[in-house]
Amino acid sequence: MPVHRTVLGEDALPRQWYNVLVDMPTKPAPALNPATKQPVGPDDLSAIFPMALIAQEVSTDRWIDIPEEVLEALALWRPTPLHRAWRLEKALGTPAHIYYKNESVSPPGSHKPNTAVPQAYFNKKEGIKRLSTETGAGQWGSALSFACNYFDLECMVYMVRVSFQQKPYRKSMMNTWGGTVIASPSDQTNVGRAILAEHPDSPGSLGMAISEAVEDAATRDDTNYALGSVLNHVLLHQTVIGLEMKKQFDIVGEKPDVLVGCTGGGSNFAGFFLPYIPDKLESPDMRIVCVEPASCPTLTRGKFAYDFGDTGKMTPIMQMHTLGHDFVPPGIHAGGLRYHGMAPIVSALVDDGTIEAVAGHQLEVFAASVMFARTEGIIPAPETAHAIWAACEEAKKCIETGEEKVIAFNFSGHGLVDMAAYDAYLGGKLHNYAYPQEAIEESWKNLPVI
Ligand SMILES: Cc1ncc(COP(=O)(O)O)c(C=O)c1O
Repeated sequence: MPVHRTVLGEDALPRQWYNVLVDMPTKPAPALNPATKQPVGPDDLSAIFPMALIAQEVSTDRWIDIPEEVLEALALWRPTPLHRAWRLEKALGTPAHIYYKNESVSPPGSHKPNTAVPQAYFNKKEGIKRLSTETGAGQWGSALSFACNYFDLECMVYMVRVSFQQKPYRKSMMNTWGGTVIASPSDQTNVGRAILAEHPDSPGSLGMAISEAVEDAATRDDTNYALGSVLNHVLLHQTVIGLEMKKQFDIVGEKPDVLVGCTGGGSNFAGFFLPYIPDKLESPDMRIVCVEPASCPTLTRGKFAYDFGDTGKMTPIMQMHTLGHDFVPPGIHAGGLRYHGMAPIVSALVDDGTIEAVAGHQLEVFAASVMFARTEGIIPAPETAHAIWAACEEAKKCIETGEEKVIAFNFSGHGLVDMAAYDAYLGGKLHNYAYPQEAIEESWKNLPVI
């Protein structure tokens, strides 16, 4: 029988995170203080982040030790398996070898606890009692609730309203782990009240929910803020994915030619491909492909510019691809990909041409996802479905060329709490939606002047 899953023992769990900043040919520009427009220093960030994470954010060390307590928590589900998608390959009729790293096996069902666990740990160590955060699809909120429960912290989650309505069971998961969840925009914060006064029916957005969570943390001494994506330290924590995968490909005896992953704020895919950046720099033919929704086309149609990370303009200004901080994407089911910005590390790599980006429409993405569920068995999260679609497109090109390319994608999460999305797709109720250029340009008018 051919090997389906390459599984590592707990002793193969990476003991250090990989800091790509050291090896990047073009480093991301520094984040700026929104008031002074000067590079942010530790003092600007210490109101909402612990010093250990601030140090990781700007570290110049290539390798950063993972604390023993964090490893113990990660060992609840890590290392995750690397699967060969034999049945998907056969259904596509492709000579390509398709692999996926299965991050859906974590307790909350996605890659998100890879960073939720260390973030909760470092905050706890510095005496913090409560964390506030935003969540889109609910994956990050449930991961942080899980991690806060593990380290005995309170967790307050502002959940984008449209997802709050579409995904009630994500809320149940957060509550089960002891987290508190409210729909954003909410009447609990100044920024939420201001948005509701202008747009009482606002579907919410990640940008709005971030503003609410940051305000919550900045106005309470016992509370810090935790971000589920975008920032350097979040991407750093996710590198356990790619580091494990390198060991797994050594066992398999193959090397990936194409790496594919979905990008919302960039964390799952970065964790998957960043450890391969030194390989990519040595072998330029290797390709790294970010996949995003055509309805929220940050990397493919966004401007590479300084912008706020949130709608309420409370976060540092970062140089990244952006659709504008007050861009409100349509309420697609891939809630985790509805973000106007991108991780500065991912953006810098796209901008200098090291990696590339494509956008997929909802209907083709769901078609690929259903095909995956019917061949490989696992039902993908709608975000993950974007990676599957693009991996299948790459595999189809190999049918024409006859190449046996090795294509690997990150299976960032399962969709078992997203079944309303599948009901809508199977019931013919989903539509494609490409964001109009005029709306994007309108939003760019409000970019900060640097
Ligand atoms: C399953 C899954 N995949 C991907 C993403 C996108 O986020 P990121 O680009 O930070 O990995 C999310 C975000 O919520 C998610 O839940």
